[in-house]
Amino acid sequence: MKIPLIDLKSQYLSIKNEIDAAIQQVIDESSFILGPETRAFEEEVADFLGVRFAVGVASGTDALTIALLALGLGAGDEVITTPFTFIATSEAITKTGAKPVFVDIDPKTYCLNTELIEKKITRRTKAILPVHLYGHPAEMGKIAALAKQYDLKIVEDCAQAFGAEYNGKKVGSIGAVGCLSFFPGKNLGCFGDGGMLVTDDENVFERSKMLRHHGSKKKYYHSISGFNSRLDSLQAAILRVKLKFLAGWNEKRRANAAVYAESLKDLAGVTLPFVAANVKHSFNYYTVRVKDRDKIQARLNQAGIGNMIYYPLCLHLQEVYSSLGYKPGDFPEAERASAEVLSLPMYPELTREQIKEAALNCRPEASDA
Ligand SMILES: Cc1ncc(COP(=O)(O)O)c(C=O)c1O
Repeated sequence: MKIPLIDLKSQYLSIKNEIDAAIQQVIDESSFILGPETRAFEEEVADFLGVRFAVGVASGTDALTIALLALGLGAGDEVITTPFTFIATSEAITKTGAKPVFVDIDPKTYCLNTELIEKKITRRTKAILPVHLYGHPAEMGKIAALAKQYDLKIVEDCAQAFGAEYNGKKVGSIGAVGCLSFFPGKNLGCFGDGGMLVTDDENVFERSKMLRHHGSKKKYYHSISGFNSRLDSLQAAILRVKLKFLAGWNEKRRANAAVYAESLKDLAGVTLPFVAANVKHSFNYYTVRVKDRDKIQARLNQAGIGNMIYYPLCLHLQEVYSSLGYKPGDFPEAERASAEVLSLPMYPELTREQIKEAALNCRPEASDA
């Protein structure tokens, strides 16, 4: 039985009529850039997350970059973040001219180890950028307390965690700004690239709207240097249809994670994802730790079962950051995770049989076969 890592087609087919009608309506109206669909979707996301404002942009990467710029970050500033994430997180920091300062991760949640943050705070530190990796919220209580104590801004990278909750609050609504990605494989994915930033801060909202639109408030008058980074109406219309299903889809992901847990629990050498008692995980990815990753991966590949390593090389060891002066061993937990993590198929439409089959192929004896 072949099982893809993510199955976008089956999700589309389950809501095909609504999606097709939404696309046709945008074409009929022919208002493609920042039209009524984008504005309506921004309002719906703001409501969903319980925040005042939302700004649709062209990608999650742009949401992060624009969020940092709107907060006034730039050259000479430092932003504390994790080395165990997708490059977009730190790329957004460097694009503003600021410097990423990495802090090791908690080996259970794969998110920032909040015990290690304080030591890295200097007079240049302006913000903390936690990533809710795989859909598990970072420890926002401690991060918020540190931010308050040192007067730092928090920008949440929620690219993998739309709908996840920390202490009953949706992630993205806790820091100064929350950033979402609508890349097709995310919890809420569009049919291309898309992103959004959300905030309660009216200044950040106004500035972000200018930044996404060539630094302009009034047509052809430009007061700051900006971007062309807008969430287009077609994507917004598709996302509006899908947003209604997001909570249910996330529930299904959690139910699928429970089936995985039951199927994998007795396997030696496989560590299941940890879920803290005060969070709701959004399981964008179902990621286990395995001792013998190459063998298990080979077995899964042979059986046609999708799998992926998010991420095989930590950010502090990437060539692009060689000038920052980090070396192997600087962040042992992040490096250990990058050597051991393995993500298995995860999407709402996954069946119990498919999960059992994927789990069966993670058995050490299966990998020896
Ligand atoms: C943790 C994280 N941050 C940022 C991004 C960037 O989002 P996008 O691909 O929409 O630019 C992604 C997704 O790719 C991500 O996984």
